[in-house]
Amino acid sequence: MDKIVSLSRRRGFVFQSSEIYGGHGGCWDYGPLGVQLKNNVKQAWWQSIVQERDDVVGVDSSILMNPRVWEASGHVAGFSDPMSDCLKCKMRWRADDFEGKICPSCGGELTEPRQFNLMFKTFMGPMEDTASVAYLRPETAQGIFVNFDNVLNTTRKKLPFGIAQIGKSFRNEITTGNFIFRSREFEQMELEYFVKPGTDDYWHEHWLQARIDWYTSLGMKRENLQLRAHCSDELAHYAKACSDIQYLFPMGWSELEGIANRCDFDLKQHSKHSGKTLEYFDEESKEHITPYVIEPSAGVDRSVLAFLIDAYTEEPDKDDIRAVLKLHPRLAPFKAAVLPLSKKEPLVNMAKEIHASLRKAWMVTYDESQSIGRRYRRQDEIGTPYCITVDFDSLDDNQVTVRERDSMTQERIPISEIKAYLCPRLTGELK
Ligand code: GAP
Repeated sequence: MDKIVSLSRRRGFVFQSSEIYGGHGGCWDYGPLGVQLKNNVKQAWWQSIVQERDDVVGVDSSILMNPRVWEASGHVAGFSDPMSDCLKCKMRWRADDFEGKICPSCGGELTEPRQFNLMFKTFMGPMEDTASVAYLRPETAQGIFVNFDNVLNTTRKKLPFGIAQIGKSFRNEITTGNFIFRSREFEQMELEYFVKPGTDDYWHEHWLQARIDWYTSLGMKRENLQLRAHCSDELAHYAKACSDIQYLFPMGWSELEGIANRCDFDLKQHSKHSGKTLEYFDEESKEHITPYVIEPSAGVDRSVLAFLIDAYTEEPDKDDIRAVLKLHPRLAPFKAAVLPLSKKEPLVNMAKEIHASLRKAWMVTYDESQSIGRRYRRQDEIGTPYCITVDFDSLDDNQVTVRERDSMTQERIPISEIKAYLCPRLTGELK
């Protein structure tokens, strides 16, 4: 993990939030490369969940919702973690992070676990009283459930169908840590997939496989992923079943994504609390039913971390070690780098023209400083899949050398064919 944290800081993937003020616990800022990687992860999720499916549509609901939403969902009363305080050093610990009654930090005695609510509270409007209390959402899911009727009426979708959302969530986690793994402000990619009761077990299985396939289709190693079914005593209050997709992070197997069968809990709760019936008319049985829902819920930040860890490779290269971020081209912050062999004018002009043309289609960087070997290394370390070198021969033959990151093989390509060459390789259709 230290290498990933150091690389992230040094090359501009992730910085501490408010770093010049000493940071702000459990909050992180994404730098120029990090924001590209994060956007590419979200784009890849949206493409597979919404764009390529007939049965899923998207929404973007507000972060601040009517506080009654959180009463209905059970979050105000029950969204809490058991915490113990150390009587000696006063540190506060999540009770499921240690065993026994001894402080993991100083060995002092710990109190009996008490429940701490994880909701971030704020006030809306000029008054700071109980009537103006609002919450920052702790999950994006509820913004989907409260829009169930709006989406059904505007899209006329038939069961099974899903509603997807990507957005920020906030939890007042008592213990944060492991870099961006657990923070207080993070992003989620959530799908609520509504199904007929009785078909829910089938769809749960379907989504477990579909979500594992998504990670591996983007290059994540299958041996670093596993499924872990929750025992009945660890299931959330709303769930009939839940399995985590775990990734083998440096601190051990940990949750990357949860896939729960939430039954009809949420729609029924919102029907009860709002007075608006959230049902579906089943043409076949001519009955109004409350659909069950399968919820694949992934963390954007955890996915970014897992993709970074999985891609980071050190391999021997001549007398040295080459650090390469073997990110899938779809996730790589830059798709290509244009590198003139010399800073001399005719080469630089030609390279800048190629750069200007390619960046209309993709994020492409340009670098003319230091030796070509060093520039290749710099691009390898940030995961740029292709380096396009413009050399003196290019001026005569209108060709460039394209170097592939992982194999380091080089091919001579006509300038007019660079786009056609890169296109299928950047989508992953061609290696
Ligand atoms: N709507 C269901 C739900 O929110 P969850 O298991 O609490 O379920 C889903 O969260 C995913 O959100 C997790 O698998 C994880 O990837 C991400 N996540 C949850 N809490 C997080 C935190 N404090 N920091 C970063 N990611 C978090």
